[in-house]
Amino acid sequence: MKNMRRLYTLAFLVAAVLLLTYCQPDPKSNGGNNTATIGTPYNLQVPKGFPQPNIPADNPMTVEGVKLGRHLFYEKALSGDNSMSCGGCHFQERAFTDATPVSVGIDGIPGRRKAMPLFNLAFHDNFFWDGRTLTLEEQAIIPIEDPIELNADMATVIQRLTDNPLYPPMFDAAFGSPTVTQERIGKAIAQFERTLISANSKFDSVRRLKTGASFTADEQLGFEMFTSEVGDCFHCHGTVETNFLLGAFGRDLQFVNNGLKANYTDQGRAEVTGDPGDVGKFKVPSVRNVEFAFPYMHDGSIPNLDSLIGFYNFGGHKHINVDPNMKAAGIGRNWTVDQKRGLAAFLRTLTDYEFLTDTAFSDPFKN
Ligand code: HEC
Ligand code: HEC
Repeated sequence: MKNMRRLYTLAFLVAAVLLLTYCQPDPKSNGGNNTATIGTPYNLQVPKGFPQPNIPADNPMTVEGVKLGRHLFYEKALSGDNSMSCGGCHFQERAFTDATPVSVGIDGIPGRRKAMPLFNLAFHDNFFWDGRTLTLEEQAIIPIEDPIELNADMATVIQRLTDNPLYPPMFDAAFGSPTVTQERIGKAIAQFERTLISANSKFDSVRRLKTGASFTADEQLGFEMFTSEVGDCFHCHGTVETNFLLGAFGRDLQFVNNGLKANYTDQGRAEVTGDPGDVGKFKVPSVRNVEFAFPYMHDGSIPNLDSLIGFYNFGGHKHINVDPNMKAAGIGRNWTVDQKRGLAAFLRTLTDYEFLTDTAFSDPFKN
């Protein structure tokens, strides 16, 4: 009898402990750190044949986080004088790059580099022309505080967002409490940026998805040049197998000197590593959407597609660090008029019109 009662007490205690551990405290009461339980999971559609996206464990994508990030990307309160947003240098219709050779920030001071196109960033593992930043979360904060970009004081930005009735509920939905923090701003923008996937060009229909669409004769000629020693672009800008995502996706050719200059004022990768052997090396940009991402290169010095092909036909300068894959550096390639036209035609097949006009990526304050 006594044993029975002890057993009942024990069973009750076990049940009580189980119940207590099961009923987690409301995530809102722990400062919202418990991101895994908040919001509606965002289902990022990874295109067939693309690698796994880089999504940090502490910033899972949610519908609410992406929505907040999109608003913040176009939010002018992120600049010192409320005049400019990320979208002021990264224009969707230009594959999120800028129209000018070097970007000009809120105080009219020109920067020294061209804004980079933004798409398929979920598959990158470093950011900026010199790769000095390794996560999108970290990257997003830099332009806000950069004196020649948005030139804002973070405490002021946080106060403005807190005072704007739009934002505390959006932070609450995305992160479990209405508190605006620098970390959450970076996380939300990064979530939005990871949704910027571009994989719907004519090239994709013809070669990646093999839908039955075909290249014109000019496009086919350019495709063969790009992917063979004739044009020799594939060593650096990737192949059909790597979906032209970036420099060869084996990640061995991420920073390269393509002989753009005889002398580099901007040292590129060497500014990060301090290695003289890295002078003039820059992150290999994607050739997707290149038709609309002009002017080209880290300094925006090549104005259009014709002059781009002119540069590679010239072969590049014989800089001491020029990559061995620039085999015609200082010599030139002597492409025919047909070959040049073909290469341009092929590069235009990499345009993804759906991406450039997708309203999911546009300014939410306008639509
Ligand atoms: C004044 C113009 C300007 C503004 C405003 C601006 N950017 Fe940029 N962005 C640039 C330039 C220029 C670069 C390249 C800088 C470098 O390499 O040092 C760049 C690079 C980037 C990259 C790196 C892409 C890659 O492939 O490595 C990302 C991501 C980015 N910007 C996102 C943002 C976000 C998010 C904001 C808003 C918080 C923003 N930018 C605001 C001009 C701007
Ligand atoms: C040795 C490696 C290498 C080879 C080969 C190469 N590129 Fe590049 N390419 C680069 C690098 C690095 C950059 C950026 C250089 C800079 O900004 O200073 C670049 C920039 C570009 C850009 C500018 C993109 C932008 O957003 O600014 C285009 C377009 C381009 N290359 C197309 C081609 C084509 C077409 C070929 C073949 C004819 C080719 N590349 C061959 C390494 C290479």
